Amino acid sequence: MDENPRDITACRSGAERAAGALLAARDAIRGAAAIEVPLDALRGPEDWPSVYGAAGLFHVEIGAGRDTLLLELSRRFPDRLILGFECSRDRVERLARKIERAGAANVRLVRSEALQCIARLLPAESVESFYVLFPDPWPKKRHEDKRLVSSPSVRLLASRLVPGGRIFLKTDDPDYSRRMLDVLEKTPFLRNEHGPGCFAPCEDALSHETLYERKWRAQGRAIYALVYVRTAEP
Ligand SMILES: C[S@@+](CC[C@H](N)C(=O)[O-])C[C@H]1O[C@@H](n2cnc3c(N)ncnc32)[C@H](O)[C@@H]1O
Repeated sequence: MDENPRDITACRSGAERAAGALLAARDAIRGAAAIEVPLDALRGPEDWPSVYGAAGLFHVEIGAGRDTLLLELSRRFPDRLILGFECSRDRVERLARKIERAGAANVRLVRSEALQCIARLLPAESVESFYVLFPDPWPKKRHEDKRLVSSPSVRLLASRLVPGGRIFLKTDDPDYSRRMLDVLEKTPFLRNEHGPGCFAPCEDALSHETLYERKWRAQGRAIYALVYVRTAEP
């Protein structure tokens, strides 16, 4: 036998490394799958403790896109349930992989339209904060009713907040910002944290800069931020 044992060792460890990488990739896919919660696995609010392995108050992002706010919330609020809704399959899959790689154990994603899920799956006074950051502006008059922020949707969010809980909103669209302000000012149980009719300084509203925020700022666009607090009385 003229085989060099050192070569055999090298060959074996190479195969082992490849197998290890495959196992790690498989585990990462499994982990990412655990972060994305299939909608049909959620029958009602009673399913959340088993989904997270814990009970607690929620921080909810509507329309996470490709942004990483959920990771930052996980770091800031390690004892809270961090929940993101996003309609796009591709964006959910990418984000789930990022969350898995970061090891953010208290984050879950649901690929679905958010408002119907919030109405069905989140009980009254279960949410500490909602984040509605750069929702699609639907600027054409005939598309206005597709906008996420409307009187019924904001009433729904207010009903799910704990007293003292907050809704954070940002947009680059001046018309949508005025519409948001108009709707929110009229919503019972919500108080503008920066005074009636006032926008919030962006850094006060939320120090996190989303992907869209970075993009619009680079183009020199103004950003409009709002923060509303849930009150005990209407
Ligand atoms: C303009 S992007 C903003 C993404 C991110 N918040 C940011 O600032 O970078 C809006 C995202 O909201 C998602 N979206 C729109 N309406 C939604 C809804 N009703 N429920 C869940 N996601 C929604 C879209 O698929 C899109 O990814």
